Amino acid sequence: MAHAEGSRKPSDGTWRNPLRDPHDRRLAHIAGPSALVIFGVTGDLSRRKVMPAIYDLANRGLLPPSFALVGFARRDWDDAAFADVVREAVEANCRTGFREEQWNRLAEGIRFVEGSFDDDAAFENLKATLETLDAERGTDGNHAFYLAIPPNGFPTVLSRLTQTGMAVTDGPGWRRVVIEKPFGHDLESAEELNRLVGSVFPEDSVFRIDHYLGKETVQNILALRFANQLFEPLWNSHYIDHVQITMAEDIGLGGRASYYDGIGAARDVIQNHLLQLLALVAMEEPVSFSPRHLQAEKIKVLASTRNMLPLAENSARGQYGPGWQGSEPVVGLLDEDGFSPTSTTETFAAITLEVDTRRWAGVPFYLRTGKRLGRRVTEIALVFKRAPHLPFDASMTTELGQNALVIRVQPDEGVTLRFGSKVPSTAMEVRDVSMDFSYGEAFTVSSPEPYERLLLDVMLGEPSLFPGTEEVELSWQILDPVLQAWEQEGAPETYEAGTWGPESAEKMMTRTGRAWRRP
Ligand code: BG6
Repeated sequence: MAHAEGSRKPSDGTWRNPLRDPHDRRLAHIAGPSALVIFGVTGDLSRRKVMPAIYDLANRGLLPPSFALVGFARRDWDDAAFADVVREAVEANCRTGFREEQWNRLAEGIRFVEGSFDDDAAFENLKATLETLDAERGTDGNHAFYLAIPPNGFPTVLSRLTQTGMAVTDGPGWRRVVIEKPFGHDLESAEELNRLVGSVFPEDSVFRIDHYLGKETVQNILALRFANQLFEPLWNSHYIDHVQITMAEDIGLGGRASYYDGIGAARDVIQNHLLQLLALVAMEEPVSFSPRHLQAEKIKVLASTRNMLPLAENSARGQYGPGWQGSEPVVGLLDEDGFSPTSTTETFAAITLEVDTRRWAGVPFYLRTGKRLGRRVTEIALVFKRAPHLPFDASMTTELGQNALVIRVQPDEGVTLRFGSKVPSTAMEVRDVSMDFSYGEAFTVSSPEPYERLLLDVMLGEPSLFPGTEEVELSWQILDPVLQAWEQEGAPETYEAGTWGPESAEKMMTRTGRAWRRP
């Protein structure tokens, strides 16, 4: 079978890596002529993230005039009705301000194809629509297929893309596929999914979205570590006691039962976002920021990562019960619409990992995530060992904690350094203080949404920020034993909504004399 053109070069042939190229400081990189086909276009993700991101890219001048957006769904819509749906989503959620003339330009390239995933005629229709766009708008045979659908729809869609010849091209254009998570629900299903996708598209045409990698604060981990002399000498087990990676959300799961029930917090967030954060924090310096070199280091680190045993003591899971979110009373998961009243799905998950390398031996990495927690915050905290000796009267340092470097991923983006300082007017009392860098204060430009960056990279064929097959499979390999152990345990522990999770999560830390941060 002829494969899709796997070239990473935009059509002008000048491949540049935005992380390295001095000419590309402001990502003034415009996508070449292309069409984006979205399957699952009626879903929440498309409306809240994907459509607004496309408009914002257009509004920033980063999409070519010939760009086309094609929606595919089982709805009785024509092009104009679909354009209205897109417009509504854009007006409600765009970041860069709605401009009528910009919208009109984008709307000229919007098309809709009605059909279900197993409808051969609809796929023929899609093919004809793309051919017309190629000829009339000049999309030049460059087509990206975005599968914003559950993985059980993949085989049907992929086989029809193959049958109709849309997945491959004999001409100069490229064909790419964009995949949303979940990439399977365990290692075995992820391998199967990867095999399936790989039988249609070559690896370098597959873009798996992990939207955390599109966040500026996450990309900044590389700048913080490798552009500075200050931190890297301390970035190892000689100085670091442990690392805490937290992604806490205050929202509940109302309206998301069909996706979330039976999936749970570990599969939803740890398998992808948190393990990618761990990889960026723990990896060695890459030879360059080329996709190949970056991926090689992430793979090395994920391959060296293991669960700390025994799992029962080093992991925790919970499910939120009723409680308060601010001043609002909220229901527990079992009373959320659509969830089974006997659901054992966890809404909180915490695990302890070790990275078996010279740099990290003996340093636990604690990962936790949960819904309906105290507040929305994602951060990575490197907590330092205590000073080997304190030449102070013990009563002067009772409020001195451990030094910490905290990468604040969101919402208050920045970096905090915590260290001890003398309290004025005391003999020598020492207490923790913070030194803060805040994006909002240091920079005038606001950060693009992750989907803007990632969709642009798909069109440019720039894969640095997309996890490869091996990373995905290694992540499942790390998580599978935990999931299997939990399955034997029955129902998760209940925690009150608005708190910081179940008792077992606290115990997991206190038994080693440590404590979770309260961000
Ligand atoms: C998604 C998860 O990947 O990330 C959601 O499926 C979660 O459950 C979301 O709410 C959080 O994203 P962000 O960017 O708001 O932290």
